[in-house]
Formats: sequence, C-alpha cells, structure tokens
Amino acid sequence: MSLATPLLLLLLSLLLLTTIASADDTETHLHFFFHDVVSGLSPTAIRVAQAPTTSLSTTGFGAVVMIDDPLTEGPDRNSKLLGHAQGMYALASQEEAGLLMAMNLAFVSGDFNGSSLAVLGRNTVLSDVREMPVVGGSGKFRFARGYALARTHQFDLFTGDAVVEYDVYVRHE
Ligand SMILES: *[C@@H]1O[C@H](CO)[C@@H](O)[C@H](O)[C@H]1NC(C)=O
Repeated sequence: MSLATPLLLLLLSLLLLTTIASADDTETHLHFFFHDVVSGLSPTAIRVAQAPTTSLSTTGFGAVVMIDDPLTEGPDRNSKLLGHAQGMYALASQEEAGLLMAMNLAFVSGDFNGSSLAVLGRNTVLSDVREMPVVGGSGKFRFARGYALARTHQFDLFTGDAVVEYDVYVRHE
C-alpha cells in the first residue's frame, strides 16, 4: 500500500462529511408579529385553568392559557395573515412573569403554507428579548431545529393584550 492511499481516503471522507453537513443546511429566517388578545368578545388567548392559590400569587403562578393567536406580517392586527400560534402557555414561575410556552406555529401563506414549527421554551415576558427553542417541524420544516427571539412590541396595561415581534431562525431539510 502506498502512502497516497491513506491520504486519498482522508480526502474522500472529508468530502463526504461536507456533503452530508450541507445536505440539511437550509436556513430560514421568519419575521412576524404575534397577537395575544385576552380581552373583548373574541379573545385569542383564554385562561382554561388555575390553582386555588393562583389569585394570591403576584406572578399568576399556576394558570394555564390556551391560544390561537394570529401571526401577521406587520404589527397591525389587520396586516397580512401569515399563520397561527396554536397551543398553550402556563405561568410557571413563582418569582417572575415566567411562562412555559408549548405551541405550534402553523403557517397559512407563502412558501410555508401548510407547514408548521413546534416551539417549546421559557418566556420571561418582562425581559427585552426572550429566546425559545424550536424543537421540530412538519412539511417544509421537517427536521427543523432552531430558535425564536421574542420582543414585546406593544402591551396594553389596561386590557392585557400584547403584540410580540418574533424572529425565528430555523435549519431544516
Ligand atoms: C394554503 O394552502 C391551502 C391548502 O392547500 C389553500 O387552500 C390555500 O389557498 C393556501 N393559501 C395561500 C395563501 O396560498
């Protein structure tokens, strides 16, 4: 066996590795506004459960909220609809406003119409930027991995309604 053979093998395996690594390299950045409407006659976020002690807690600890929140292109609720955030959040902290988010982002327009992303993470709503993991996806987002950055765009102290700006970065098939 000549000295060239191991070198050639090394080069070939490096080539193979780079091919495998780039096969699932599609990276997508999504930007949208999430509307959490708790007030009025047709809220998109509804409290479905709480503990007997929740009302005594300053952080709302123990409450569970089901959501079907519209995702729009702009901060205006009536701007183009891109999808829905469907799932729930639970007030999971005794020390601060800290949510456990468990939701699917179901897209209804453009390239990703019919595809969805699953988000599971911690959302301390009073922080400037909250990062939540994207743990999977369907359709065009099969094998998705990534993260979402959420920033409160608008919060109405009187009604509790919120508009949250999302930047989602995902790698997928
Ligand atoms: C999204 O897909 C659904 C189902 O295929 C289709 O009825 C609808 O027209 C599509 N919407 C857009 C905006 O492409």
